[in-house]
Amino acid sequence: MTMLEGKVAVVTGAGGGIGAEIAKALAAAGARVVVNDLGGSVSGEGGDAGPAQQVVDQITAAGGDAVADTRSVSEWDSAQKIVENALDSFGRIDIVVNNAGILRDAFFHKMEPENWLAVIGVHLNGSFFVSRAAAPHFRAQRSGAYVHMTSTSGLIGNFGQANYAAAKLGIAGLSKSIALDLERFGVRSNCISPFAWSRMIGTIPTDTPEQQARVEKLKQMTPDKIAPVAVYLASDAAAEVTGQIVAVRRNEIFLMSQSRPIRSLHREQGWTPEALAERFVPTFGPDLYPLHRSPDIFSWDPI
Ligand code: NAI
Repeated sequence: MTMLEGKVAVVTGAGGGIGAEIAKALAAAGARVVVNDLGGSVSGEGGDAGPAQQVVDQITAAGGDAVADTRSVSEWDSAQKIVENALDSFGRIDIVVNNAGILRDAFFHKMEPENWLAVIGVHLNGSFFVSRAAAPHFRAQRSGAYVHMTSTSGLIGNFGQANYAAAKLGIAGLSKSIALDLERFGVRSNCISPFAWSRMIGTIPTDTPEQQARVEKLKQMTPDKIAPVAVYLASDAAAEVTGQIVAVRRNEIFLMSQSRPIRSLHREQGWTPEALAERFVPTFGPDLYPLHRSPDIFSWDPI
């Protein structure tokens, strides 16, 4: 018996990159899969039914069971229909992998509202819409697993990605909230923070030699390395794992920290701005976080 025998999964944005590898791995583990992807450009323009169907064809050729779905995650109604597709095609839903994504990078002072709204719309709203569409079914059957894609661009930081960072940190909060609210129904929710060479990473600026060197390292991290972690988190083998963030980079996996107080300061008579000016930096100074970016923290070559 394979790890996901009898289960049905929706994987959004599964026409390429990480999502395609996750869809294929879920199918190989016995799940029947809705391969969702609207087949747009990396910035979310256009649409093409080809990528989702190609992944379905690969799954079918390998002896698995899958259907294509080309709806957008970023609208409430179409997200409902993505989940309905799982019920219509396979009679149930057990796993939601929120993987669909776009990038519209710009330095903050040049970021246009439409690029903010588009990125929030696909990543954060899309993850909410698809998760929410599955929730009544998970609740009724008293089981279900969510796997969402967050990013160290949000968890740590990166240049030129205010929209993406806000969406991805928002997804970490969404996942934790789902984990808390649905625990009573036996439903789990976890995040993967992946590192993988995909067309999305191809849009990282390569203006400086440091950035070019970074991209060369990223190319060694293939998207298939993310899939086993998604399969595990989606399976009953991870029954005790919920509300977690797992970073995956080539053959390394990391349990990521979550925000907790690290130092406190108390003043009997309450605080004034002047008292803070006197005490804040002398007390917290050694612990103030540097303005790290993701590559500062993941500074060694992928292994
Ligand atoms: P990708 O661009 O290859 O895959 C994203 C897929 O989502 C595309 O196939 C695209 O057509 C689809 N998509 C976009 N908008 C959609 C919508 N509204 N409805 C349905 N599908 C839609 O990129 P990649 O790298 O495979 O990214 C997958 C996920 O992993 C994304 O959520 C991304 O933010 C996340 N991630 C990737 C990292 C990496 O190193 N590649 C790093 C951190 C996070």
